[in-house]
Amino acid sequence: MKILLFGKNGQVGWELQRSLAPLGELTALDRAGADGLCGDLSDLDGLATTVRAVQPQVIVNAAAYTAVDKAESEPELAHRINAEAPAVLAREAAACGALLVHYSTDYVFDGSGQRPWQEGDATGPLSVYGRTKLEGEQAIVQSAAAHLILRTSWVYAARGGNFARTMLRLGQERERLTVIDDQWGAPTGAELIADVTAHAIVQTRAQPAKAGTYHLAPAGETSWFGYASHVIAQARQVLPAGRIKATEIAPIPSSDYPTPARRPHNSRLDTRRLQATFGLRLPPWPQGVERMLAEIL
Ligand SMILES: NC(=O)c1ccc[n+]([C@@H]2O[C@H](COP(=O)([O-])OP(=O)(O)OC[C@H]3O[C@@H](n4cnc5c(N)ncnc54)[C@H](OP(=O)(O)O)[C@@H]3O)[C@@H](O)[C@H]2O)c1
Repeated sequence: MKILLFGKNGQVGWELQRSLAPLGELTALDRAGADGLCGDLSDLDGLATTVRAVQPQVIVNAAAYTAVDKAESEPELAHRINAEAPAVLAREAAACGALLVHYSTDYVFDGSGQRPWQEGDATGPLSVYGRTKLEGEQAIVQSAAAHLILRTSWVYAARGGNFARTMLRLGQERERLTVIDDQWGAPTGAELIADVTAHAIVQTRAQPAKAGTYHLAPAGETSWFGYASHVIAQARQVLPAGRIKATEIAPIPSSDYPTPARRPHNSRLDTRRLQATFGLRLPPWPQGVERMLAEIL
């Protein structure tokens, strides 16, 4: 099987290089491209030419414009990368008969209520990032390409910038941390996303009816405050005494931490469809966080 991966150096892309390698011949590209192939999602013609040159059986798009706040002031670029590029990949995937795997986000929802979002629930993005990611999804769904769209939330990895790493740094610098306690979801490890992706690709290639949109996050839920508290508590156990300076973590409402982009209060994702379709059991969220901390501390 020939696999073409975009975004190989992102949190998810990095782990995909590992999880996809045993499935076949993997061509993995970052923004700079390689061997005359274009990996820049803002170069729509270059993307099309690259897919035609490689003729893959599977295209995995782990690249995205993920700077949620910055997207508010760069809507055109976010739209090009998150909406137009996936549309091109879907068109080219359809033309060469490839399965297109793409990632999306809980930010396509408006965050109302407390019930975990199901795949068919009405969308209502609150931000430019969420809107452009939704447009990318829609372009893929409306195309003739066989596809897997995996919506995930609060991604972290041992490598790359993310909330857990920021909390670890701040916990070593400050005595008091304030963390939002009214946004709920599940921190999702890039390792888990990559492993589930490989599993789903194999099954969907064998049973094309499994193609579609799925929610992918570990079991359980927490707030950013709960997540930060867990990270700091674990770090305190592992690091030498005194390294963690933070003695107080205070919960605050989102309104006390204004950002350019609005974020949903309810980021819970209902993953029953993914688990039932692919015969998977998603582990509790602290398991992956603790594993990542054991790696980086
Ligand atoms: N991070 C989250 O919390 C989160 C939550 C829900 C869903 N998701 C989705 O999950 C997927 C993977 O996210 P992630 O956390 O792995 O993101 P990430 O770590 O920010 O990685 C995104 C990658 O996209 C690349 N990229 C940006 N612009 C590009 C361009 N024009 N051409 C080629 N590559 C470009 C970046 O490259 P550079 O390093 O060169 O900029 C980076 O390697 C995305 O679809 C994202 O929307 C993420």
